[in-house]
Amino acid sequence: MSSKISLSRYLVEQQRDKGHIPADLRLLLEVVARACKSISHAVNKGALGGVLGSAESENVQGEVQKKLDIIANEVLLEANEWGGHLAAMASEEMDSIYLVPNRYPQGEYLLLFDPLDGSSNIDVNVSIGTIFSVLKKPEDSQGVTEQDFLQPGNQQVAAGYCVYGPQTTLVLTVGDGVAMFTLDREQGSFVLTQENVQVPADTKEFAINMSNMRHWDEPVRRYIDECLQGKEGPRGKDFNMRWIASMVADVHRILTRGGVFMYPWDKREPHKAGKLRLLYEANPMSWLIEQAGGASTNGKQRILDLQPGQLHERVSVVLGSKNEVERVTQYHAKG
Ligand code: AHG
Ligand code: MN
Ligand code: MN
Ligand code: MN
Repeated sequence: MSSKISLSRYLVEQQRDKGHIPADLRLLLEVVARACKSISHAVNKGALGGVLGSAESENVQGEVQKKLDIIANEVLLEANEWGGHLAAMASEEMDSIYLVPNRYPQGEYLLLFDPLDGSSNIDVNVSIGTIFSVLKKPEDSQGVTEQDFLQPGNQQVAAGYCVYGPQTTLVLTVGDGVAMFTLDREQGSFVLTQENVQVPADTKEFAINMSNMRHWDEPVRRYIDECLQGKEGPRGKDFNMRWIASMVADVHRILTRGGVFMYPWDKREPHKAGKLRLLYEANPMSWLIEQAGGASTNGKQRILDLQPGQLHERVSVVLGSKNEVERVTQYHAKG
C-alpha cells in the first residue's frame, strides 16, 4: 500500500476529520487543481504547443497579453463555471467579473485569480504560475456584483498558487497551515510533499527589482541600502539577492527557505499604489505567508486588513520572513 497522500485525500481530511472546509469548497478546490494541471501541460508543451508569444491584445491593466495569459484564463473559466460551487469569478485578464451562466447551478463562492503570473518569463522558460483566492459570497447579496468581491483578505476561505517550474507544485491554505503538493505526471495527481510549511523569522536574502531603486521611497532605500552594506554595515551580515520576476516563484522560494520579497510603490506613481494587484496577487500570497509564520504588509498596514476599493486595485507588498518585514514596516513608521 502506498503511503502517499493525494490532494484529494488531504482535502477530504480537511473536510471530514478537521471540519475546516465544507464539501462544496473541497470540490471547488479539486476543480482549481485540475485546471492548474491542464495549464501545466500547456506550459510544458511550449513552442511545440504553439503557446508562446504575444496575443496582440491588452488587458484592463494596459499590459500586452501573452497567449498563455489568455489560455490559462480560459482554462480556469471553463473548468470552474459548470461545477455548481461558484457564483462568479474575477481575473487579472478580465475587465469585470464573470458570472456563472444561468444554465449552470449557482454556488456560494467567488473565485479570483491571476491565471498566469510572471508573463515576462513565459517565453524564456523560467518558472511561472497561477495564483488563486476563494471568498464567500456575502449572504445578503441578491445576484452577484463587483461589490461582493471587495472583501479584505482576512475573509478568504482558501488561497494558493501553482508554480510551473522544474516541478509543478500546488501550494494551498484553507486556514490550517500551508501544504505543498507536487504533480506526479505518471499518476496525473498532486501528491502531498510538505505540510506545516514554516518561513524562518530571519533571513539573509531579499528580492526586489533593483532597477527601480532611483524611484523608491526613503524607507525602502534605507532598508536595501543597509542590506547592501553587508557585514560592515548596521546589519552586521552579508545579504544575497534573488529576483525571478515571477511573484509565484519568488514567494515559493521564500516559503521554502525564507527571505523577503518587496514590490513597493515608487515615485513614478501618483497614487502610491505599487504594481501588484491586491485581490488576486497580494491577498492570497499574504495569507499563505502568514499561515507559514511569516508577515505581509504594504509598508504600513497588514495587507490582509486592507479594505479593497476596486477589483483591480494595486498595492505595495513587503512579505516574507517576519523580522525583516517588521523592520521594513518600522522604517516606514519612522519616515
Ligand atoms: P503578471 O505577469 O501576472 O502581470 O505579474 C507580474 C508581476 C509579478 O509576478 C512580478 O513580481 C512582477 O510583476 C515583476 O515585474 P517587473 O519585472 O516588471 O518589475
Ligand atoms: Mn499581467
Ligand atoms: Mn501576476
Ligand atoms: Mn498574470
